[in-house]
Amino acid sequence: MKSIVILISGRGSNMEAIVNAGIPGARIAAVISNRPDAKGLAFAAARGIPTAVVDHKAFPSREAFDAALAETIDTHGAELVVLAGFMRVLTDDFVRRYEGRLMNIHPSLLPSFPGLHTHRRALEAGVRVHGATVHFVTPTLDCGPIVIQAVVPVLADDDESRLAARVLAQEHRIYPQAVRWFVDGRIGFDAHGRVRLSGEAAAGGGCTVPALDG
Ligand code: GAR
Repeated sequence: MKSIVILISGRGSNMEAIVNAGIPGARIAAVISNRPDAKGLAFAAARGIPTAVVDHKAFPSREAFDAALAETIDTHGAELVVLAGFMRVLTDDFVRRYEGRLMNIHPSLLPSFPGLHTHRRALEAGVRVHGATVHFVTPTLDCGPIVIQAVVPVLADDDESRLAARVLAQEHRIYPQAVRWFVDGRIGFDAHGRVRLSGEAAAGGGCTVPALDG
């Protein structure tokens, strides 16, 4: 069993999708929030998953908060730390401590639209496709090795909330898939630090996109 700790800041729908996926070989060891009022905490508790709050407002600095967060994560023996709508920028020390086992989901097709308000910015830019990205976290924000992406069309009558909902539905598909690949030990890196899935065909006679399991 691989122990997974999920960090949330709010609604927690991606955390729910990962829990509901019932990934074989994975144990959700804890759900931790930096906000005491995060809605997702109730879902986790109702499922019997240990929850904890490390309130960033209670710490004098980012470093002190991250140290307390790491201590709480390590209490649960996390082999994978999953950021699921966790809205705090993490220090380099924290990120390095969990290098290669710290994943994030970002609501855009990275490297397009890092940072906040991705759906609004996609609409403003007039892109025809948008989406979501699961990636490993590195010290540079929204920049680490990409594990999986999902693409959605941008429709003529979209507003921010319609587009966000279409992207979110895909987030709920790809995040459990990324976690499943990690738990199955299928994720490796090539010489350039890019993600390679074991069993994935090397790009040869055309474009290869890994199929989702199941
Ligand atoms: C998700 O759309 C996620 O991609 C985004 O916050 C939302 C959280 O929803 N994350 C970021 O913007 C990180 N920079 P959820 O709490 O329902 O999973």
